[in-house]
Amino acid sequence: RAIHLSDYLPYTHLVEEVALVFRLAPKATRVAATLRLAPNPARPGRHDLRLDGENLRLLSLRLNGAALECAPDDTGLTIPAAHLPDGPFTVETEVEIDPEGNTALEGLYMSRGMYCTQCEAEGFRKITFYPDRPDVMAPFRVRVEGDLPVLLSNGNPTGQGTGWAEWVDPWPKPAYLFALVAGDLVAHSAPFRTASGREVALNIWVRKGDEDRCAYAMDSLIRSMRWDEEVYGREYDLDVFNIVAVDDFNMGAMENKGLNIFNSKFVLASPETATDDDFARIEAIIAHEYFHNWTGNRITCRDWFQLCLKEGLTVFRDQQFSGDMRSHAVKRIEDVLLLRARQFREDGGPLAHPVRPDSYVEINNFYTATIYEKGAEVIGMLKRLVGDEGYAKALDLYFTRHDGQAATIEDWLTVFQDATGRDLTQFKRWYTEAGTPRVKVWEEWDGATYTLTFEQENPPTPGQPEKGAKVIPIALGLLNPNGDEVLPTTVLELTEGRQSFRFPAATRPVPSILRGFSAPVVLEREVSPEERAFLLAHDTDPFNKWEAGRALAKDLLARMVTDGAAPGPDWLDAIARVTFDETLDPAFRALALRLPGEDDMAATLHAGGVTPDPARIWTERRRMAEALAKRLGPQLPGLIEALAEPGPFTPDARAAGRRSLRIAALNLLTRIDGGRAAQAAYRAANNMTEEVGALVALLEAGAGQEELVAFEARWAKDRNVMDKWFALQIALAHPDRAVGVTEALTRHPDFDWKNPNRFRSVIGALSGNHAGFHHASGAGYRLVADWLLKLDPLNPQTAARMSTAFDTWPRYDADRQGMVQAELARMAATPGLSRDLGEMVGRMRGV
Ligand code: ARG
Ligand code: ZN
Repeated sequence: RAIHLSDYLPYTHLVEEVALVFRLAPKATRVAATLRLAPNPARPGRHDLRLDGENLRLLSLRLNGAALECAPDDTGLTIPAAHLPDGPFTVETEVEIDPEGNTALEGLYMSRGMYCTQCEAEGFRKITFYPDRPDVMAPFRVRVEGDLPVLLSNGNPTGQGTGWAEWVDPWPKPAYLFALVAGDLVAHSAPFRTASGREVALNIWVRKGDEDRCAYAMDSLIRSMRWDEEVYGREYDLDVFNIVAVDDFNMGAMENKGLNIFNSKFVLASPETATDDDFARIEAIIAHEYFHNWTGNRITCRDWFQLCLKEGLTVFRDQQFSGDMRSHAVKRIEDVLLLRARQFREDGGPLAHPVRPDSYVEINNFYTATIYEKGAEVIGMLKRLVGDEGYAKALDLYFTRHDGQAATIEDWLTVFQDATGRDLTQFKRWYTEAGTPRVKVWEEWDGATYTLTFEQENPPTPGQPEKGAKVIPIALGLLNPNGDEVLPTTVLELTEGRQSFRFPAATRPVPSILRGFSAPVVLEREVSPEERAFLLAHDTDPFNKWEAGRALAKDLLARMVTDGAAPGPDWLDAIARVTFDETLDPAFRALALRLPGEDDMAATLHAGGVTPDPARIWTERRRMAEALAKRLGPQLPGLIEALAEPGPFTPDARAAGRRSLRIAALNLLTRIDGGRAAQAAYRAANNMTEEVGALVALLEAGAGQEELVAFEARWAKDRNVMDKWFALQIALAHPDRAVGVTEALTRHPDFDWKNPNRFRSVIGALSGNHAGFHHASGAGYRLVADWLLKLDPLNPQTAARMSTAFDTWPRYDADRQGMVQAELARMAATPGLSRDLGEMVGRMRGV
């Protein structure tokens, strides 16, 4: 059942060309495929031809024009070698498929009257018989016939008439990049001229009525295209670039060649309907999918074990882009928050796997934070180790050497070795070994020399009991006690289990370690609250400045939970200083005000040997927010006032940063003013950022019922906005009421549970309500498991992804562990459980 990297063999045949004809019909679409094949010299000898195919009704099969009798099995079709000629040959198939009955949203399916596809990773085999693997690359010709006005596929349009359109994609591509869209759509269009003068027509296709919500996505696309030319020297390579927004989509978006398909929530935006976070995410995802054109499409992956080759690199590139467009400091803090919340969590539990896994059962289960986010971190470390110039040289070599190929992590590392001369043998462990390294630090100062000693520990993970020392780049700065920097950022390379670094120092310096979060590790160091407050005030590295405040807050919250400590002036005064420091970016100040998350706190307590009590974490975190509100209280109204934006809404980083600080201040004020300011802000809001900000403040304070009613009345017809309405009231519900609120909302007429966004907004929101999901009654566990089991037969991919809610069970007490295990066992024992959910449940149970 499991597939292993070590079993890789090239495909038996080459696909020289593919021609497809689609005759669209909701329940009976016909797909005719003509494949020109030839034996692959990389696999000498005579071989059967094995084509993948699932849920296909085979209508006809021809080999070199002659009909062939050959019955498919459950997973494909084999034409025995005896039938095949020695040289090139042609296979023609015609199949019938049922897009309307396709609830898994993989392959060709329908979303509200429109046809669309999702083929990555292995959806193309649900469209036609084909070698559905990324190392089989071919040029595609596609004809689409159907009675819908807009008929799209990959590449350049080569002809169209009433009821048909033809497309040619000249760039050889794997089947997972195939796409087709047909619908009654309208385009928001713009021209683009590439650096070398190619005219490209850009179109964002949406339903009628949504065309006025495309401007920001288009602007993001144009900026992405320009940025990739300027920063990576990469130009676009077709005459058209199409983006389509789809309401029913299992993931964020997909980089199909020349025809990106997006979850509509990552395209459509207007000030009235999208928050600043939505705008930022749209910008990042548009960029991400566009950047895949080079890192993913022109150079793809040899097999799915190499997924991080395209995803880690493309995430790294979109992070660089967002940093350039907005603020590098703020972007880095946000990325690390996400990395810790999702990837460290994954790496520390039963689902831990290497950035390049060596086996899997269902590849869709490996589109994870580890592949994406840790995959990007690994590239960030590589760049730090070889320097900006070395990185640029290596990337140039990567693009010239591997263009048009399906490559591996070995190829990638070889490029860096060849371009920079650096031996990356040890570095490769970052790709092959799972788990978050823990780095302990000690300091010593003898009056003349300052010594830092590091010790790294690489904890065991499933299937990997032991691992070697990693290369860990540690960016370090030293400050003197006045707060002046005496050693600007320097990168130490930790390569051994234990290693010391010495610096001349006439006074004892204060170290700023792991600046910019230079490696995805947990740093363990005993630091006094005074020193943390000192760094929060003086560190010149914005990440570590923020990190100092965060660590101060986490230390405090941990003490509040474990021994009933109360927030004292060390934390309160330090945060107050940052909050009102007008020399600092408001977005940074807002991040400094954000309290540690409950799940993060649970993980930290568990790592420190304390069994986390979710209800207690919830209560103490609230107490912490109240103490802060009281401390800042008198100055909050003035801050809110000063941050008001007089003019019309603009989504840029400056305005967004001011709003985020303003909303953070409002949120605190709401805890002490009986909700008056937030109610007024809700009524006055003329954009979704402030509307949601005020609503969140009220809900967190246990109020907001009237506003929820008003919100629903106003937005009932808007799916993307209503997702927020569903999610917020569950995510912010009191722990004792979260399950009840969720149950009530599952009976709401607009709870369309077959729509992945809506399912995530309800069931996903409950899983994200830490104290509600982990409620001592076990009702949270039961409700989530019930819904996963209900969704699984229809949409296994989304059910499997959402099952990760359960992966933290080893942290909690025996009662909770028992209840989670019972739910996992119940799921495992369910007849007909999908391979997707089955694999996840099995891994979480440790079997
Ligand atoms: N390649 C897409 C992206 O990163 C995501 C595809 C996710 N596919 C999946 N089967 N989960 O943009
Ligand atoms: Zn991607």
